[in-house]
Amino acid sequence: MESPFRSSLQGRKFIVAIDGPSGAGKSTIARHLARHFGLLNLETGAMYRAFGLKALRVGLPLDDHTALEALAAETTIHLEPGENENRVLLDGEDVTGLLRNQTVTDAASKVSVFPVIRAWMVRLQQQLAEAGGIVMEGRDIGTVVFPHAEVKIFLDAAPEVRGLRRYDQLGGKDSKPVVQPEEVIADLRARDQRDRNRADSPLRPAEDSVLLDSTNMTLEEAVHAAEAIVEARLQQKTSQVR
Ligand code: DC
Repeated sequence: MESPFRSSLQGRKFIVAIDGPSGAGKSTIARHLARHFGLLNLETGAMYRAFGLKALRVGLPLDDHTALEALAAETTIHLEPGENENRVLLDGEDVTGLLRNQTVTDAASKVSVFPVIRAWMVRLQQQLAEAGGIVMEGRDIGTVVFPHAEVKIFLDAAPEVRGLRRYDQLGGKDSKPVVQPEEVIADLRARDQRDRNRADSPLRPAEDSVLLDSTNMTLEEAVHAAEAIVEARLQQKTSQVR
């Protein structure tokens, strides 16, 4: 069902920022909110992944910030919102299907620690909102990219729960597992560590964000809780206007 607020959001630059660690359910929730409220869904992690892929292809060491900065200067990344997932163009090539494997995932987390890379991404992300209302998900959307976003949700869940969700997404429950759940959880903890402790724009909740902990929720329950947070904010804004 679509939100009754949907039509009032048409053409408005309404911004919903969703931040949180990997596996907390950000993508599912962002996709749903975008459909429900008629907004564009933008996944910023895909941009860091695309740049990580480029660094891997070129064979750069992922800790060589000078070389990475030079590479960034000659790279173009475009994110195109779609119904289900974003299409990612790296130097004009559609790399959408190449971004989800473990090597690229780790590379994205490593290249995203460098301030010059982040500043470049933030500029691109801010430009994406010029088209209209958006749901943008990432790690620093409410704190850095859109500090004035109308709605900020910080989505979290215990590492074990997030790791098991990731494991299921990898097909671990139904098919012959390629990795063990423990490995998925350990990898996720390592990425969390890097994302939360980097000096520039570490993952943390914005002061005015609403914390949504989905540890004891199904994803469906978390989706409904997020929807209620946005509805409440819209109600509040409507009553302020009256
Ligand atoms: O959301 P994701 O798993 O696709 O993100 C991949 C990596 O990119 C993640 O480890 C951290 C980084 N990232 C970031 O630093 N800032 C963002 N806004 C989005 C992602």
